Amino acid sequence: MNTSILIDKTVEFVKNTLKEAEGGHDWWHIYRVWKLAIHINKVEGANDVVVQLGALLHDIADSKFNNGDETVGPKVAREFLESQLVDLNIINQVIYIIDHISFKGGFSLTNKTSLELKVVQDADRLDAIGAIGIARAFNYGGFKNRVMHDPSVAPALYADKEAYKSNNAPTINHFYEKLLLLKDKMNTTTGKQLAEERHAFMETYLSQFYAEWEGDK
Ligand code: ADP
Ligand code: NI
Repeated sequence: MNTSILIDKTVEFVKNTLKEAEGGHDWWHIYRVWKLAIHINKVEGANDVVVQLGALLHDIADSKFNNGDETVGPKVAREFLESQLVDLNIINQVIYIIDHISFKGGFSLTNKTSLELKVVQDADRLDAIGAIGIARAFNYGGFKNRVMHDPSVAPALYADKEAYKSNNAPTINHFYEKLLLLKDKMNTTTGKQLAEERHAFMETYLSQFYAEWEGDK
């Protein structure tokens, strides 16, 4: 099948599948990650189809909304790609991305990853920081009915993946537990540059937030 037809069909499939998704993880998250991945890949030159399909399908069934089951996403993606008669070699590379992209506390990352995964992972991480990242964090906190900030609850570094996933801390703590750590985890040159800018914006945001919290500004 012609690549652009395959991409169009994948876009349709993802839009339909994510219709009911929570705001921070909806089609528009996928859209931004997809655009960012294409942008980053202009410099990296990884396989274009794998990068685009990986970006489009990376959150197709988030384990957070499937009782923690991390096998649903790869299965749904594989079935879709097989239904489109995509080359098995391409399918396997896309599934590899879906299996390995998640932050989940930043645990168990190795250097032995594909360039395509590095590109899509940077794009996904960039969408968690900067102006959009701030909006997504508060949106997610609202979805979970968490407080925005509580000066008496210090940020924590979680011992493992489960502790990270099940914590119920104020949303501001998430900046220290994840968002501010991401700029040092970027894989690509373009990803690093964009992350620096988005990081600086979050620092500015946080100092304004604390000043307003205490009525100082
Ligand atoms: P990933 O897929 O990289 O593991 P998540 O699915 O955990 O990321 O998060 C999706 C979005 O929700 C991100 O923007 C992330 O920052 C936000 N988010 C996740 N956990 C929290 C939390 N505890 N508080 C606020 N925002 C969160
Ligand atoms: Ni994502």
